[in-house]
Order: sequence, then C-alpha cells, then structure tokens
Amino acid sequence: SSAPIYEATASAPVNIAVIKYWGKRDTKLILPTNSSLSVTLDQDHLRSTTTSRADPSFEADRLWLNGKEDQITAGSRLETCIKEMKRLRKETVEDVDASAPKLSTYKVHIASYNNFPTAAGLASSASGFAALVASLAHLYALPASPSTLSLIARQGSGSACRSLFGGFVAWQMGSDPSGSDSLAVEVAPQSHWPQMHALICVVNDAKKGTSSTSGMQRTVETSPLLQHRIAHVVPARMADISTAILARDFDAFARITMADSNQFHAVALDTEPPIFYMNDVSRAIIALVVEYNRISLAQGKGYKAAYTYDAGPNAVIYALEENVREVAQLILSYFPQTPGEFKDVLGIFSGAADVN
Ligand code: PMV
Repeated sequence: SSAPIYEATASAPVNIAVIKYWGKRDTKLILPTNSSLSVTLDQDHLRSTTTSRADPSFEADRLWLNGKEDQITAGSRLETCIKEMKRLRKETVEDVDASAPKLSTYKVHIASYNNFPTAAGLASSASGFAALVASLAHLYALPASPSTLSLIARQGSGSACRSLFGGFVAWQMGSDPSGSDSLAVEVAPQSHWPQMHALICVVNDAKKGTSSTSGMQRTVETSPLLQHRIAHVVPARMADISTAILARDFDAFARITMADSNQFHAVALDTEPPIFYMNDVSRAIIALVVEYNRISLAQGKGYKAAYTYDAGPNAVIYALEENVREVAQLILSYFPQTPGEFKDVLGIFSGAADVN
C-alpha cells in the first residue's frame, strides 16, 4: 500500500483590537505590558488559509507565503512556533500513544495565503500565525484547546493569539515569567452580539513604515505616557469594555473603543522619535465619526459608530447592524475614492466569526 499522506488545512480571520496591545515586557516570549481585547472579523475578505504537510522525505521545514518562499531562520518566530507545535505533538500524542506516527520527527512544508494586502495595518500577522498554528494542530491531531494554541500563536505575533477564537476575545497579559498564563480567552461568542459589524476603510494598502515590533520597543524604552497607560488606564478599560460587551451596551463600547485608539496613537506620538500611523484622511474620518455621533447624541439616540486604528492609516469602524449602511454611505459620500488618498470601504462585514 502507498504511504499515508499527512496534510491539513485551516483558516483564521483577522481580529481588530478595541483595547490595544502595544508594548512587550519579554520580547522573546512575546509577553505584553498590558492585556488587550479584540473582535474577530467574520468575512471572507480578511483571512489567512494555511496548508501543512509532514513527510519523512522532506529535508527541511519550509514555508511559502502567497506562493513565495519565506526563509525560516534560526531563532525566528516562525521557527519557534513550528518547534513548539512539534513539542506539543510529541508530549500530548506520541508520548501518550506509542502507536501514533512520529510526525514530530518529520519536516513540514507549509503554504499560507492571505486574501488581502500583507502588512498594511490590516493585521495579516494575526490571521497568518493563527492559521499556521491551527493547521499544524489539525495535522498533528492535537487535543489542545484554543487557549493552549493561543500560547504558541502568541510567540509568532502577539495579536495572533486572539485569532484562535471567534467573537469577542481577551488576551490576558498574565504574570508568570514563563508566559504560561499569557493567553487568549473568550469574552463572548459572536452569537452573543451578532448585530455588531465592522467596516474596514482602506485609506492606504501600502506596506507600513514602522513595524509594530520596532515601534513597540521604542515606545517601551521612551514613552512616559505608556507607563501611565499600563498602570492606570488599561486595567479599568478591560473590565469596563467586557461589561459593555456582556450587556450589549454599544454606547459604552464605542466610548471606550475610541478612547483607547486615541491613547494608543498618543503613545505612538509620545515615543522618541515619534511615530505617526494615522494620516490626514484617517484624522478626517475621526472628525466625521465624532460629528455624526454628536448629532445622534443631541437627538437622544446614542452613539452610532466607533472608529479604531492600528499601526497604519486604515480605519475600522464598528457599528450596529441597523446603522451600518448609513455609516458606509456617510464615509463614501465624504471620501470619494481618490487613488492614493482613499481606496475603498472594503465592505460591510459582520463583526465576529466563530473559528472552526
Ligand atoms: O501582533 P503585532 O505585533 O502585529 O501587534 C499588533 C499591535 C496593534 O495591532 C496595533 C494592536 C493590537 O492589539 O492588535
């Protein structure tokens, strides 16, 4: 009979933080200086899909990203993730069941595809490392929970740990120096608040200027505002936004989301030398959302939209289903699509996914 084929495919969506992760206390293990919270986006446009194969004839671990080979260098995050997944395979499957094939000793070939621009501030590393870990977990038939897998995805890219869950997800910073308690947990599944939608406004899909890794490091080293944020701001916001999500309180969710985006970008500006991720179009979208909410609040109707920006100029606007069409029309009417200035409102997507 022919040799068995060991291959598995998994996909993972992007997540967009409403309480931002910015700063590492351990750069090797990727342990954050504060907890964070995100919504996993559920749509087909922002996903990574990864296929892994283990074979005794392979001579090296290799990875292709969008069809182009990426070197897996010694000590890299990619190497760490693959190594950790093999260790889990050995410890939780092969050491327990002597008849299980020794896949941990085979080299793997991995092919990953993003269906959106890489490194454009659209969190491609989050979905990428989550899909990588999920596909290896499949391949290795691991009995591991999403939180356990999040410990490994975290070591690929911090924000990736949150893409192991759908819906509303917290990354608890933890306190153990080993990183064993720095993991993702579900705050609420997508089904808890299916009216939550996200609008991605692609202001610019070019590769970003300052990588999150080098930006964070500089911020940790130089920003006094970051120290205030870590000690006195984020803990209360984590609690308050979790309460808002559980109560489906969009007003509180919107206030906290926008305040935290603002503080993240203030912390970037407080870095030496300063980091600018937003541009004039980003700021004009903020002004528009603020004015739109002001009018709604004056009519006694509450918040209708909440903007948030990551390490790039693109806006993500959270809105409830009943308002999402109006918000999209508003953005498009104020920002006609000018090449190089404002690319597109990428679509109207339901806010959260249930990850397979
Ligand atoms: O996981 P990284 O290294 O790509 O960092 C992500 C940082 C932000 O996107 C700005 C915030 C976040 O929590 O996702």
